[in-house]
Amino acid sequence: MKTNYKLIQIKPLIGPHGAEIGEVNLQDEMSDATFAEIHQAFLQYKIIVFRNQDIDYQKHIDFGKRFGKLFVHPFVAPIQKYPELIRLLKKPNDLINNGGALHFDLTFLEEPPKASILRLIDVPETGGDTIFNCMYSAYDALSASMKKYLEGLRGLHTSAQLFGPTGFYRNNKSKTSMIQIPNKKEYITTHPLVRTNPETGRKGLFINPMYVEKIMDVPIREGNHILEFLYNHCAKAEFSTRVSWKKDTITMWDNRSAMHHAINDYQGQHREGIRITIEGTRPY
Ligand code: SIN
Repeated sequence: MKTNYKLIQIKPLIGPHGAEIGEVNLQDEMSDATFAEIHQAFLQYKIIVFRNQDIDYQKHIDFGKRFGKLFVHPFVAPIQKYPELIRLLKKPNDLINNGGALHFDLTFLEEPPKASILRLIDVPETGGDTIFNCMYSAYDALSASMKKYLEGLRGLHTSAQLFGPTGFYRNNKSKTSMIQIPNKKEYITTHPLVRTNPETGRKGLFINPMYVEKIMDVPIREGNHILEFLYNHCAKAEFSTRVSWKKDTITMWDNRSAMHHAINDYQGQHREGIRITIEGTRPY
């Protein structure tokens, strides 16, 4: 992979993935050459962080569109006039936040998003970091026999666990400022437990504590034990990178190779962000 960046600055983060990108102002017109380096950095580092990006909604959308088609969230209300933008908001009295446990975004879809781009416009004085765990590293660290066991197995992903009538958000409505769209549809699909990134060819674990109900075609108790093992394994500190936000930090994550966890450790404070999500392809 090309690692010779001429137009942008790269400062790797601590951990298995992630880099801060300097020398870029996303409010300015971006040349194809600069975009090509940012795209390269995204594939190489998976988590890319831009500081001091006081951009407007349209620029946020325009930047996302350079990576692919933008996606409209099936359950979270969009920002008025911008169907592709959602607000991630925790007010001081809210008790839960968005994305407060390790997960990939929206894997109940047949074609889950390839990436998300989040800009925080208000940050708590302390806390509110996001942890990103590298699922390539988690896969690489498995034993050969576990890799063999997982080969060909698929997980059942469903939106019901979070957004269904008895799901987490429906049952905690009074604890969050997130506004849900009335959508009764249950999205349900299966994906391989190990997926290959179509752009890099790398293999990573593709499980999801938020949406996976079971492993297909194995006895339920066995599947639950395997999932529990994998969830504990994926959450290990050595696979993680931490992003500490400031106002107008933008972070883009590869939703095929990194799970993330927005840490809810700033009770009584305000945190607010604007997110877009880029369409992906069917995992294999
Ligand atoms: C999310 O998109 O799941 C939340 C990320 C964050 O707020 O840091």
